[in-house]
Amino acid sequence: MIQSMNSVREAFPILRDKVQLSSCSQSALHVDVKNAIHRYVNTWEESGMDWGGWMQACENARAQFAKMINADLDEIAIVSSVSHGVSSVASSLQNEKRKKIFVTDFDFPTVGHVWLSHQENYKVEFIKNKLAETITAEDYRNQIDEETLLVSTSHVSFYDGFKQNLKEIATAIHEKGAYLLVDAYQSLGQTPIDVKEMEVDMLTAGLQKYALGTPGIAFLYINKKISERLTPKITGWFGQHDPFAFDIKNISYAEATKRFDSGTFPMINGFAAETALTILNDYGIDKIEQQLELLSAFTINEAEEKGLIVKSPKDIKKKGSNTAIYVKNASEIESKLAQQGVILSARNDVIRIAPHFYNTKDDIRIAIDKLTEIL
Ligand SMILES: Cc1ncc(COP(=O)(O)O)c(C=O)c1O
Repeated sequence: MIQSMNSVREAFPILRDKVQLSSCSQSALHVDVKNAIHRYVNTWEESGMDWGGWMQACENARAQFAKMINADLDEIAIVSSVSHGVSSVASSLQNEKRKKIFVTDFDFPTVGHVWLSHQENYKVEFIKNKLAETITAEDYRNQIDEETLLVSTSHVSFYDGFKQNLKEIATAIHEKGAYLLVDAYQSLGQTPIDVKEMEVDMLTAGLQKYALGTPGIAFLYINKKISERLTPKITGWFGQHDPFAFDIKNISYAEATKRFDSGTFPMINGFAAETALTILNDYGIDKIEQQLELLSAFTINEAEEKGLIVKSPKDIKKKGSNTAIYVKNASEIESKLAQQGVILSARNDVIRIAPHFYNTKDDIRIAIDKLTEIL
């Protein structure tokens, strides 16, 4: 069913009186996601507990995530954050012969922190310092070698929205026999991801950005040909074949990537995630990407016409929704805009305009006008 923009926007009550363009940080609350959270709270209040129903919501969320990235259900683990997902991968590769891990300068810092915390097991290197948007598959090809175990990098940059061509970098990395682990937190929900077609080995993403959900839940994909031979050290009873066997003396990992589940699922967040991912899958990520490309081009144009300095790539195919505008005092500007009902997100020296499928050119025009006024 084709939805009109009005009916799309009605489902996000905040849009009645505010301009929310902060999907690189927190997307707007959909009324069905709010109701899903209430459903959890209501069953808790009315039934006391409903383990079966609560676990099922998380399993449904796992299935929706698998669908969104074209993975099999048993290739997905439920984790609590991207940091947790990357840590689990790091914990499971310690016995591999190869020891070099590559990260890029424009990855979200948590990824660097996780790998650097494992330096007794790995040699961590950074792909040589270049502007993000000039990094290509050739840089990976030239800089990694036969000692490289894994490249850990992001699909879309949190800072300026730079989008990497995953298929091309996967090919370059696989030529050296290394794995590719993708942080897709900034791409999930705004651009299609097909882990099979892109030949991504591992991928992790949370729900708070373009995926319309909450923090507290994330997913980890590992191709089952790889995960079947891994033994995660960040683990727990949910990562076992039968958590409810309550067998403390034996460890028996679950099949494929489900062995990367660990403790009790983050249930309330699972309710939100199930609904949020279903909304996005039903709407269609291809369609969302098409809308966002138009809004991206519009944002760059408007910003440049007003004399603002755009730090994001100008080539729409090389960026996600986020357009980063250079400003000196970004956090202060974020607060001033919020006081005027415009929600943008600051990072270092940029303020990020990050629309989603519920935003319009008018939203962007208003945001840029107010930003220009304040500057
Ligand atoms: C690309 C990216 N990765 C990771 C994170 C943080 O992940 P988490 O807090 O789930 O560990 C963020 C948060 O802003 C992000 O933008």
